[in-house]
Amino acid sequence: MSTSADNISAKHLAESISGAQSFTDCDFSQNSDCGACLKQEAAQVSRRAFFASMLGACAGAIASVIGLPILRYVLYPVQNAAKGQKWTLIGDAQEFENIAAPVTKTIALVQRDGWREVVSEQAVFVTRSDAGQLRVLSPICPHLGCSVSWHDKQNKFICPCHGGQFSADGSRISGPPPRGLDVLDAEVKDGKLQVQFQYFKPNVPDRQLLS
Ligand code: FES
Repeated sequence: MSTSADNISAKHLAESISGAQSFTDCDFSQNSDCGACLKQEAAQVSRRAFFASMLGACAGAIASVIGLPILRYVLYPVQNAAKGQKWTLIGDAQEFENIAAPVTKTIALVQRDGWREVVSEQAVFVTRSDAGQLRVLSPICPHLGCSVSWHDKQNKFICPCHGGQFSADGSRISGPPPRGLDVLDAEVKDGKLQVQFQYFKPNVPDRQLLS
């Protein structure tokens, strides 16, 4: 039969071997079979560990099912903004091969406003540079943002607000605008002319992209 001192030292031995505080739950003074007591404690610990890991796995699964779509929804505008501007179709490049004067075209501009996608109509001018290259101009006056229009008879763009004037290639002629009409990024792909419509800071001498 084991003595009280033996039980206490066995208890301390079990604690020092396992390092687990839960082994102190086993009442060695009431149980003379030290091995059985340790097995009972080990079984309790493994059950607790199993339930804890199951609980953790369930919580992780619930978090991923609910949390990931929410996270994707919240980050959608940021991710979309990071993708940058989209190309917008203007028309067949062939249509502009022989233009002698700027042509006004209306494009369907898709813009993102937070979580909403807004489609709006936007005018652009297709013209040629001095060197004869196809060029797409913004119709937004670089003075204070009014819409300029092409005047065939005067052979120039005129802004209705303060009389700013621009030549057919968009260069500034006269008036308060501090620069020429803004040239938009454009390319011909698979025979189609497309443009990246962007907005620029008004009333500054150089072209500065608005974020
Ligand atoms: S807004 Fe065009 S000239 Fe002032």
